[in-house]
Amino acid sequence: MALKDSYTLPAAADMHVHLRNAPGPIASLVTPTIRRAGIDTVFVMPNLAPRPVVSVAEALAYKHALQQLDPAVEYLMSLYLHESITPDVIREAKRAGIKGVKAYPRGATTNSQWGVVSFDPFHEVLKTMEEEGVVLNLHGEVPSSAADGVTVMNAESRFLPVLKGLVDKYPKLKIVLEHCTTADAVEAVRALSDNVVGTITAHHLSLLVDDWSANVHHYCKPSAKSPEDRRALLNAVVTSNGKFFLGTDSAPHDITSKKGKGNTAAGVFTQPYALGYVLTALEEGLGRGDISPEAVTDDALAGFLSGYGRRFYGLAPATQQIRLTRNGARIDESLRGDDGVEVVPFRAGEQTWGVEWL
Ligand code: DOR
Ligand code: ZN
Repeated sequence: MALKDSYTLPAAADMHVHLRNAPGPIASLVTPTIRRAGIDTVFVMPNLAPRPVVSVAEALAYKHALQQLDPAVEYLMSLYLHESITPDVIREAKRAGIKGVKAYPRGATTNSQWGVVSFDPFHEVLKTMEEEGVVLNLHGEVPSSAADGVTVMNAESRFLPVLKGLVDKYPKLKIVLEHCTTADAVEAVRALSDNVVGTITAHHLSLLVDDWSANVHHYCKPSAKSPEDRRALLNAVVTSNGKFFLGTDSAPHDITSKKGKGNTAAGVFTQPYALGYVLTALEEGLGRGDISPEAVTDDALAGFLSGYGRRFYGLAPATQQIRLTRNGARIDESLRGDDGVEVVPFRAGEQTWGVEWL
């Protein structure tokens, strides 16, 4: 009923990461942990503050700054869907190798204040993305609204009609429903065409609503939900068939933004141990009977952690291999960087899987 003690797999790709402003103390702290996790390729989110990444020049400057922090990582860059983006910006982005445009429903999450209220004004932009093969990355939640009966618990399910509407209107548009957290979302993505996929984080494979209500380091958007939802996510990982792949949504926040006087910042920091968290969650899922042991094959792991995401974004398969070894590492209590920043990783202090590059 347990996993093996060691796995040799292709280097992983993490198709949803927050690295924050670069140069900057959090980027300097977390970017060097990408390869430590066994990951060589990341899709970088554009929700920087005080200004999101809305132009090709800004995206390329950001990429350059990240390369200074670790040149051995491939950074796939994205733009933030914003009223200043035109069809010409999309064509320029395509030529510059920018892979996606992230849509944040306004008010749904961290730095979404410049985000989308309605997709209608973006019709020409979305049509151009569909023509050019530029991916639409969706934060799949509607903002909470007591008047409409929306809370963090049903915000994702309420978004699914928006997803289906986009697929009907732009049938060839490549879409990623980012960080799926519900059985509803898994089912919706499975039922849609091959150009619609979902990412799944490491932490949503283990957390439930009770966990984040008790611990600020477990709080994120979309927030973790029910045991049935978690079971659907675990099964989506091992029966993905290309429909789901890893996007950790690793979201570092300084500890003062987690525990300060204001609202708690949403985000779970998983970057340095991302793959170990996935294996631990799968093993816990096996123990509960949430997934069947036969489903957890090396091919399923290699696809979810590495191959399916690369294929969706048109990249070649990984060239390097990694070995993951049970109990080969211990998770730091916290990571401290310049200017006094301190970021607390998920499952701080626990044993996890070690990573070696082969
Ligand atoms: O928990 C989250 N944190 N969800 C998001 O959508 C944004 C992210 C962040 O930027 O911190
Ligand atoms: Zn995110």
